[in-house]
Amino acid sequence: MYSYQAPADVLKDRIIIVTGAGDGIGREAAKTFAAHGATVVLMGRTTSKLEAVYDEIEQAGHPQPAIIPIHLEGATAHDYELIAEKLAEEFGHIDGILLNAAILGQRTPIAQYEVDTWNQVIQVNVNSHFMLVKALLPLLEKAKDASVVFTSSSVGRKGRAYWGAYAVSKFAIEGLMQVLADEYENISQVRFNSLNPGATRTQMRAYAYPGENPSVNPSPEQIMPAYLYLLGPDSRGVTGQAFDAQPPKAKA
Ligand SMILES: NC(=O)c1ccc[n+]([C@@H]2O[C@H](COP(=O)([O-])OP(=O)(O)OC[C@H]3O[C@@H](n4cnc5c(N)ncnc54)[C@H](OP(=O)(O)O)[C@@H]3O)[C@@H](O)[C@H]2O)c1
Repeated sequence: MYSYQAPADVLKDRIIIVTGAGDGIGREAAKTFAAHGATVVLMGRTTSKLEAVYDEIEQAGHPQPAIIPIHLEGATAHDYELIAEKLAEEFGHIDGILLNAAILGQRTPIAQYEVDTWNQVIQVNVNSHFMLVKALLPLLEKAKDASVVFTSSSVGRKGRAYWGAYAVSKFAIEGLMQVLADEYENISQVRFNSLNPGATRTQMRAYAYPGENPSVNPSPEQIMPAYLYLLGPDSRGVTGQAFDAQPPKAKA
């Protein structure tokens, strides 16, 4: 899937939600999905960033996107129900969700980890996405084949010192994905998978590794083949799996 070559119109007529669509990988994914024919619903907390992505998509002549500003830390189950109602009115169904927004929290040992930061990271990275997916399940079930992609991390597959709540949140995301995939295995056409982007040149990466030369990592654009594969029809029937967007690094 690293070298998946997506047909130009692979996402034609699909309605795809991207959380954290204003920056980094989410921003690139939103633009890439639109360029491949999708109507993208841009969700994120900074409206000006979402508007900039909206403008880029519109100026490129791709399908007109929609914007839903939302602060995942404070949003309640009721907010997600209202969003689901709006989307039902507007589109009637949803073909895909890229659950991408996340925060890093502190890079400290658990012994020093602040409880408030822990709760904030779990709220943004896990609870918000649980509530969003729960509210949208009925709309996913209405699609002819729908794909939900949870964004993971290598520290969500093997715990690593000083990654605290972020690592635990990614383990939780993997668990939520597996539970949903199992629940839906025989009853519908909705698939659930996780995707670890791998080290990618974004603000989050720069914040986590301030001393690193950013150019050693691929840009978000370079990891898009895996995203297109998982959101598009070529991954139909693939569910409950943990994927990587980059090939394993050769060991020196
Ligand atoms: N970059 C990497 O090397 C790497 C590696 C492994 C996994 N990942 C995962 O890949 C995903 C994307 O990461 P990235 O590097 O693109 O990060 P990023 O550049 O920091 O972008 C994160 C996005 O999430 C949004 N967001 C954060 N908190 C939010 C909140 N409370 N409500 C709504 N939106 C919120 C941000 O909005 P604002 O722009 O408004 O702040 C931003 O658009 C994350 O799940 C991350 O854990 C990244």
